[in-house]
Amino acid sequence: DWDMKDIAEEFIREVREKAGPDGHVIGAVSGGVDSSVGAVLLHRAIGDRFHAILVDNGCLRLNEAERVLDRLRNREGIDLHLVDASDRFLAALKGVEDPEVKRKTIGALFIDVFQEEAERIKKEVPEGHTVDFLLQGTLYPDVIESISYKGPSATIKSHHNVGGLPEKMSLKLIEPLRELFKDEVRSLGLALGLEHESVFRHPFPGPGLAIRILGEVNKESCDKLRLADDIAISEIRKAGIYDDIAQAFVVLLPVKSVGVMGDGRTYENVVALRCVNSSDFMTANWYFMDHETLARISNRIINEVPGINRVCYDISSKPPATIEWL
Ligand code: XMP
Repeated sequence: DWDMKDIAEEFIREVREKAGPDGHVIGAVSGGVDSSVGAVLLHRAIGDRFHAILVDNGCLRLNEAERVLDRLRNREGIDLHLVDASDRFLAALKGVEDPEVKRKTIGALFIDVFQEEAERIKKEVPEGHTVDFLLQGTLYPDVIESISYKGPSATIKSHHNVGGLPEKMSLKLIEPLRELFKDEVRSLGLALGLEHESVFRHPFPGPGLAIRILGEVNKESCDKLRLADDIAISEIRKAGIYDDIAQAFVVLLPVKSVGVMGDGRTYENVVALRCVNSSDFMTANWYFMDHETLARISNRIINEVPGINRVCYDISSKPPATIEWL
């Protein structure tokens, strides 16, 4: 894709010019397509003067942090720091059930952790070098939304990724993707040589599993959901339908139901499997999954995840239901 290669080259030139010979850039990465493409571009532009930070908030999916490290640090050579702040996040989330309080708690702590890391990086750069820029993975639809129109999700749920950071830290923004739509970001990712899996990864919300656990978020509920979610995603991949679905995940419900196992009675959690298709995530349809895959996912979750004895499939569209349950 030559157009995308030209766009990448042009952007790389711009960053080099902006940053100058001694300027450093920092940026948060999640492993999603936007932050991965942004990080790879920055790395190609200024190499080790780009510093990426991945915060483990304790609410990531199974092995997610390791996977992102492997892709971006080991394979791409990006100076990526993993900050394991899971204990701090889980301590802050203790007793919190309200979805908006969960979002705000995670958003505020994320800013604190990121700032601490940025301070550390500032101290480590060579004498005479400066850290003036923050990479942000803003896309064109985010730009239009923030100047002219707030979509229903934006007002119903407070989506924050790294909003508020640049002002607090007096950093200038670098936004390589601000003229691109999602499908163009994916093409750019492929042109840069990123693998299919990271380019076509389903979106994952910043607050992570915390908004997929109804009720209190703790180590135990996160671990349980992580296992169930991983089973669902692996079976969806094995069935070859991952790319036919816009977003697929499991939700842990604060409901217990009775089951039987061997001669015994169980009284354990219920989970919901949520799979939707959507072009812009403002509206969505539930995905008509084949029964064989549904059966495999359900059997495996119930057999392999301790504490779950029932799986339901969510057949609600948006509106009126939202994609996430919280
Ligand atoms: P809803 O649930 O509003 O979700 O239909 C629409 C899309 O937004 C994602 N989402 C979030 N993303 N932080 C994020 O970064 C959030 O707090 C958040 N809440 C929802 C959701 O996964 C879906 O793709």
